[in-house]
Amino acid sequence: MALLPILCYPNPKLHQVAKRVAVVDARIRTLADDMLETMYDAKGIGLASTQIDVHERLIVIDVSEERDQPLVLINPELVWTSPTTHLNEEGCLSVPGIYDGVERFDAVRIEAWDATGQSRTIEAEGLLAVCIQHEMDHLMGKVFVEYLSPLKRNRIKTKMLKAQREDAR
Ligand code: NI
Repeated sequence: MALLPILCYPNPKLHQVAKRVAVVDARIRTLADDMLETMYDAKGIGLASTQIDVHERLIVIDVSEERDQPLVLINPELVWTSPTTHLNEEGCLSVPGIYDGVERFDAVRIEAWDATGQSRTIEAEGLLAVCIQHEMDHLMGKVFVEYLSPLKRNRIKTKMLKAQREDAR
C-alpha cells in the first residue's frame, strides 16, 4: 500500500476526462487499495482517480462514522436520479479549506463494478448520494467549485495558488 499525492485545484489535470477501466486486474486492485489508504490518511470521505492523476473511471468512498465501510466503484454510470435536489455544503481534498453549497440530487441509482469486477447496482441517498455525484464529477474533469459563481471561483483560484506558492517555499 502506498500514499498517493493528491492534485490541487487549479491544476489543469483535474479537468481531464477519465476513460473506462477495461479490466479489473491486480493493477486496478492495488490502485483502489492505495486510493483508499490515501483517502483515509487525508480524512476524506471520497477520492476519484482523477485527483491522483490517473484517468481511469475509479472512485473510492467511505461515508461511515467508523471509517470501516470502504466502497470501490469502477466505471460508475448514473442510471437514475431523484426528481428532487437539495443544496449541500461540500469540500474536496483537491481544494483544501474551501467549503460551499452545491445543488445535488437527493437520491441516485448507479451501476458500477466492485473491486472483484462484479457489476452492481447501488441506490444511494443522503451523504452517500452527494459523495457519489461529487466523485463522478471528478471523473468528468469537474471540480465542485465550478458550480459556484465566476467571482467566487476566481477568489478560490487565487487563494489556492497563493497557498501553493507558500507551500513550495
Ligand atoms: Ni473532490
